[in-house]
Amino acid sequence: MVLSTGYNKVKTAVFISGTGSNLKSLIKFSKNRISPISIDYIISNNSKAKGLNFAKKYKIKKKVLNFKNKQLSENKLLSIFKKNNVKMICLAGFMKILSKNFIKKFEGKILNIHPSLLPKYKGLYTYQRALNNKEKYSGCTVHFVNSKLDSGKIILQKKVKVAKNDTVNSLAKKILIQEHKLYPKAILKIFNL
Ligand code: GRF
Repeated sequence: MVLSTGYNKVKTAVFISGTGSNLKSLIKFSKNRISPISIDYIISNNSKAKGLNFAKKYKIKKKVLNFKNKQLSENKLLSIFKKNNVKMICLAGFMKILSKNFIKKFEGKILNIHPSLLPKYKGLYTYQRALNNKEKYSGCTVHFVNSKLDSGKIILQKKVKVAKNDTVNSLAKKILIQEHKLYPKAILKIFNL
């Protein structure tokens, strides 16, 4: 991707459905001089998502769309993004699947973070499945989004050791701490920074 200067950061939308802790880490990162992106929109399919509160706190525009009619919601987003020059999308705990057409429009500029070492454990219940299989390591992955779930090109991964007494909660907590570091690093990487 073309390198941006501090004065001309790539306008980015973060898509969430829940807590938004990755959103928060991306907002903090975006304010750093070295960040090639600015966070200009928070998108959620869930009006009750806790992460939407960051819109007010950090004065970022937000938009809630229920995605019941996917095409309608996506078309609204496309027009908002065009108007506001939003060029990049970071999915961060977004629980809806975007259409092939929409993804294609942002090819190479739409990223996701997933709480497993892909290609292992695509989809849901990643922690439980890793524990069930007595994995020694799990972790997180930032990848480009393509039309297949959790299958796009991997940008960066971070391994996390699974302890014998780990539970879904303790493992999720450990992995989340690493997610907050990994997403910004992956963004720097795709901008060759
Ligand atoms: C993270 O574990 C992320 O990997 C997954 O959903 C969770 C979102 O957490 N895709 P948060 O909303 O960023 O706190």
